[in-house]
Amino acid sequence: MTLEEKLGQLAQYRWSWRDDTVKEQYRQYIREGRVGSFLGIAGVGHTRELQRLAVEESRLKIPLLFAEDVIHGWRTTFPVPLAEAGSWDPAAVERSARIAAIEASAMGLHWTFAPMVDIARDPRWGRIVEGSGEDPYLGSVMAAARVRGFSRGGDLSAPNTLLACAKHFAAYGGAEGGRDYNTVELSERTLREIYLEPFRAAVQAGAGSIMSAFNEVNGVPMTANGWMINDILRGEWGFTGLVVSDYTAVAELQPHGVAANRAEAGVLALAAGVDIDMVSGIYGNDLEELVRQGKLDEALVDQAVRRVLEAKYRLGLFDDPYRYHDAEREKTSLLTPEHLAAAREMARKSIVLLKNEKEILPLSKNLKTLAVIGALADDRRSSLGPWSGAGDTADVVTLLEGIERALPASAKILYAEGYDKKTFTDRGGFARAIQAAKSAEAVILVLGETAGMSGEASNRASLDLPGEQEALARAIHAVGKPLVVVLMNGRPLSINWLVEGSFGAENVPAILETWFLGVQTGPAAADVLFGDYNPGGKLPATFPRSAGQIPIYYNHKNTGRPPIAGEHYTSQYLDLPFTPLYPFGYGLSYTTFEYGAPRLSVPEMEFIDTLTVEVNVTNTGKRPGDEVVQFYIQDEVASVTRPVKQLRGFRRIHLEPGETQTVTFQLTFEDLAFYNQEMQWVVEPGFFKVFLGGNSVEVQEARFEIRSGKL
Ligand code: BGC
Repeated sequence: MTLEEKLGQLAQYRWSWRDDTVKEQYRQYIREGRVGSFLGIAGVGHTRELQRLAVEESRLKIPLLFAEDVIHGWRTTFPVPLAEAGSWDPAAVERSARIAAIEASAMGLHWTFAPMVDIARDPRWGRIVEGSGEDPYLGSVMAAARVRGFSRGGDLSAPNTLLACAKHFAAYGGAEGGRDYNTVELSERTLREIYLEPFRAAVQAGAGSIMSAFNEVNGVPMTANGWMINDILRGEWGFTGLVVSDYTAVAELQPHGVAANRAEAGVLALAAGVDIDMVSGIYGNDLEELVRQGKLDEALVDQAVRRVLEAKYRLGLFDDPYRYHDAEREKTSLLTPEHLAAAREMARKSIVLLKNEKEILPLSKNLKTLAVIGALADDRRSSLGPWSGAGDTADVVTLLEGIERALPASAKILYAEGYDKKTFTDRGGFARAIQAAKSAEAVILVLGETAGMSGEASNRASLDLPGEQEALARAIHAVGKPLVVVLMNGRPLSINWLVEGSFGAENVPAILETWFLGVQTGPAAADVLFGDYNPGGKLPATFPRSAGQIPIYYNHKNTGRPPIAGEHYTSQYLDLPFTPLYPFGYGLSYTTFEYGAPRLSVPEMEFIDTLTVEVNVTNTGKRPGDEVVQFYIQDEVASVTRPVKQLRGFRRIHLEPGETQTVTFQLTFEDLAFYNQEMQWVVEPGFFKVFLGGNSVEVQEARFEIRSGKL
């Protein structure tokens, strides 16, 4: 390979598949071997033609890689990743990723920039919607499930698999102030125990690539962070796959202030272990001269090229460069009845019931008149959620349509938009909405955010319902009809008034969190609203009472003065309770569950043993339902402070009324270990607590002792 051809393999350009214009410059690049992969192109017609150019008209005939963000489904849009994480059902999440891979690969794609595995402890950050929330354990389980689904555990031999890319490495979610791309400053312990864990899990599950993040960590931008990419990711974890930069992030080393010009930026990134330059065009255009002048070691280039070629080889592209470009498969693989059924099932599983006083839910299908209020109820675009891939608004069944389909034709549905969903600030629709509520037996009020209010760069300083929505909720509540609030949103919201009311006024009795559920929004939500499905999802992130409480997360430290209500010199606020509105892991059901006392296989153990913890869970209500049994631990005394709780296991189980199941968890060395002051991974002797329950607060506890520790 010539140096130019080598650098070409490291160059990735964007070419939108929604834009058919022929970019002659890129065609020329392909013929000259000056591009290795494209981002943003899909569709067999298009990709096949470009692949043909590469393997027939370029000198070396090296096939191209086609990449895209396949985040939650492809044509069959599934719930946003945060919602899916709230299912606490890794098998269902794996299936969702598998279907996304089947559809995206049928449209010519080899590579997805997913899963997004960034831990998000700050819901102001818009990208919380793309990940699995605040917890490293839940995040790791979901990361591994998605990698398995996309790439069959790294076995890419079938052409309906995608090379997975865990992103954004790393600590991107730690952006100060919740502002995307912002500075990240954190301890190495927090970095490793919280932010890196899901990446390690993704690598272990066989992720073939990693994307470096836009942000800096402790003074070093990730695109130039050799310690984290070369030493931790490749060195400590043994990752052998590809590392791709984020979009124009190599060039952004200049505004970060660590590179004076493009060439310097390229050298820094390549030396740090970033193999592919996404869109900056620096590897392709600015490095050749440096190698020739002896200022950049060609061995660094060779190493990166080898990784790119290996990925193409693993995808089988050297055997058959057209294996992902089959027009027949494209015709038959998208939006199939089977995929739609899976999307509906995933959506039902992702819904979280936050409140249900007086058993207002499920609603009866015998209602003669039902008011549906809120423009989000019929918003196709928002139903898809951010990063909706090939999702088409025409395929969406909205919440309103789902309700219409679920009720008999004789039922009268009074729909009123209530607010203008562009700004949410207009009260002009209130009167009609109030009139609809007055004329109906019951009211479904849909509130929240549009899809554009979360996702990349869509950060919010406030977590309140945007605009005049709370005012609308108050006005509708005042009408006095049975009221259900359905939330559509991409992040935790501080919906205090809905939950708690004010000044003794009775508050909203029922709240259903639906996030953005994808093409099957309506059927899935209607299944839950009318009782054909009993909700069992649980929150993957804490709901604060106010943005002022951030950061607020369940696995915090205890401090020397933990908050005690009414005691001044403890860690709390003057103007708000210290507790969240809803804790991590929270969610109700139409039935009730009771937990027995946890049973430990032994009261004490050596570090080498495995401890088994069992708990009986009983459905004490009248309906069959799912419960997510959650298992947390706490190290009571250690050489460094430890979180008050850490999730170490969970299981979503189904119980018939009156049924009891025994759920068993195993605790191993890894579950108890942490980084000590010397940053060694250790288990220290002493007492540990275990907690079992249906959320991170309401738990049963037991205790055991580790008699001897271990490095
Ligand atoms: C995002 C990535 C994404 C890339 C390509 C960037 O702006 O940060 O998550 O994969 O664009 O679309």
